[in-house]
Amino acid sequence: MTTTTTMTMTMMTTTMKLLPSTLAVLFVLAGLTGCGGGGGDDEVADSTGTDSTGDTGTGVTVDEAAIMAEAVAYSTNFTKMNVNPIASQHAGGIDVNIWVKPPVDNYRSVDPENPSALNFAPETLIVKEHLDGMGAPTAMTIMYKAPGGFDPDNNDWWWGAADLDGNLMASGAAVDNCIGCHADVALTDYVYGIPLANQVP
Ligand code: HEC
Repeated sequence: MTTTTTMTMTMMTTTMKLLPSTLAVLFVLAGLTGCGGGGGDDEVADSTGTDSTGDTGTGVTVDEAAIMAEAVAYSTNFTKMNVNPIASQHAGGIDVNIWVKPPVDNYRSVDPENPSALNFAPETLIVKEHLDGMGAPTAMTIMYKAPGGFDPDNNDWWWGAADLDGNLMASGAAVDNCIGCHADVALTDYVYGIPLANQVP
């Protein structure tokens, strides 16, 4: 009896410890499946979306560990681009913040209400921070502009979804669910941007 109780309590404690990270994973996965937009086309069939080495077979690779080492420090080293949290179209209207590694001029120049063509420079790094109902960060999605040739069909972006410690749950070139939505804004190099009224000046 005592043993059973102890075991039950141990299991409960373990479950409770696991819960936040499990929720974060579910949250991101919900976001991954949440794409209602079109844009998924034949190119996606060639996706190497879960390739953890970042090797797309083109000979051009990315160093995922280096990207994530920078990404996890976003709140210290990146510039927060939005004034108020954005009610995201990801995962059913959670709030998000968008952080960009300086320089940020290119990101700022994206006007979602009046878009015009632009391209981001290699090594551009953008983190979208997911927030819980209390405004605390829970997870992140990442876009990194790889060297030319990494994924030429999709403007050479590397995509990642991770927990706050940088553990990747999905990553690589042309990750299907990411591209499925972001292809809608191919004109602005797959980047949505923030309405000017909500941009940090
Ligand atoms: C349901 C459609 C949808 C899916 C799926 C999606 N995104 Fe997004 N993404 C958006 C929208 C819309 C924005 C603009 C901000 C917002 O509403 O969240 C955005 C913004 C971003 C940003 C900030 C840069 C920008 O575009 O302004 C990053 C980084 C990002 N997404 C990464 C990803 C990654 C990585 C994936 C796949 C793991 C992904 N997204 C999947 C719709 C989507």
